[in-house]
Amino acid sequence: MNGKDDLQELEARFLAEIEKAGDERALEDIRVAALGKKGEISTRMKGLGKLPPEERKSMGQALNALKSRIAEAIAARREVLKQQALAARLEKERVDVTLPVRPEHKGSIHPVSHVWEEVVEIFADLGFSVAEGPHIETDWYNFEALNIPPEHPARQEHDTFYFHRKDDGTRMLLRTHTSPVQIRTMESTPPPIRIIAPGRTFRCDSDQTHTPMFHQVEALVIDEETHMGHLKWTLEEFCKAFFETDSVKMRFRASHFPFTEPSMEVDINCSWEGGQVKVGEGDDWLEILGSGMVHPNVIRAGGLDPERYQGYAFGIGLDRLAMLKYGIPDLRAFFEADLRWLRHYGFSFLQVPTLAGGLSA
Ligand code: DAH
Repeated sequence: MNGKDDLQELEARFLAEIEKAGDERALEDIRVAALGKKGEISTRMKGLGKLPPEERKSMGQALNALKSRIAEAIAARREVLKQQALAARLEKERVDVTLPVRPEHKGSIHPVSHVWEEVVEIFADLGFSVAEGPHIETDWYNFEALNIPPEHPARQEHDTFYFHRKDDGTRMLLRTHTSPVQIRTMESTPPPIRIIAPGRTFRCDSDQTHTPMFHQVEALVIDEETHMGHLKWTLEEFCKAFFETDSVKMRFRASHFPFTEPSMEVDINCSWEGGQVKVGEGDDWLEILGSGMVHPNVIRAGGLDPERYQGYAFGIGLDRLAMLKYGIPDLRAFFEADLRWLRHYGFSFLQVPTLAGGLSA
């Protein structure tokens, strides 16, 4: 058998097949048949040893050259096929952006998502940015760095979900509030700091006003001159914007949180006429948030110098805000995924809350 003629024939055959390959899979089959471990070219390479020494060298060179020509042809064809596949996909997945919105859409935005967006919109306008932290936290971030040492009574109130203990005795937990984001933000961001952190929180608790998973929004402001007047003004602006009324009255009550000193709880006025709560009317009071000036221990735990930096923080229940603003009576229904409830209380996805366009309208 004349080896060189055989190679020419082989090359012609493979090149023709490569040219004909209709997709990347077919091309891969050809590659395996030619260059794969048991492919025709590899088999011939293995047979080199049986050739007489004078033929071995030239045959080896010829095989190597053939191998690279085939590999190049495959690569070139693959590129062509890729381009063709892309062009076909672009053609097939074309979207007509001029089509009108279909009126029969069924989905809706959950009230919590809507209120979340409203809150972000209001605070963005006040110069706050949005920060995030993990749902699964360490004891340090959730408690200790927030000035809640192991024996502190506040730990009982938090009804914490713990994970199994690790070999070193520590255990992770589901964050019981968004306050750990305060510490994480101080660690990662040089002051001045002005953030809100909306997110999910978890406590082992369930009744008409408590669910094991709920939502809070935390706020943290840290710089060199912030004082309680700033805190109060910010909260007033927030309440007016959120409840979309200038008439809402606020009451600041001295309170206690380990991570703030002094601490205040904030109530807003409301009426309960006909069993329905109306914010900004009447003489009843409803607690909506906890706040205060950040405790020096917390600032220190965040890696900053409390002699130089100070600031305020507050935490609001997002679900609570949604219930109040949209007159939703039972918190548990928020997380039952009942379609009738969602259609009733949900928002259209076209209804993006903006301060200019209106938050709830
Ligand atoms: N972390 C508190 C809670 O879940 C709420 C809170 C109170 C947050 C006062 C704050 C604050 O930032 O200053 O009960």
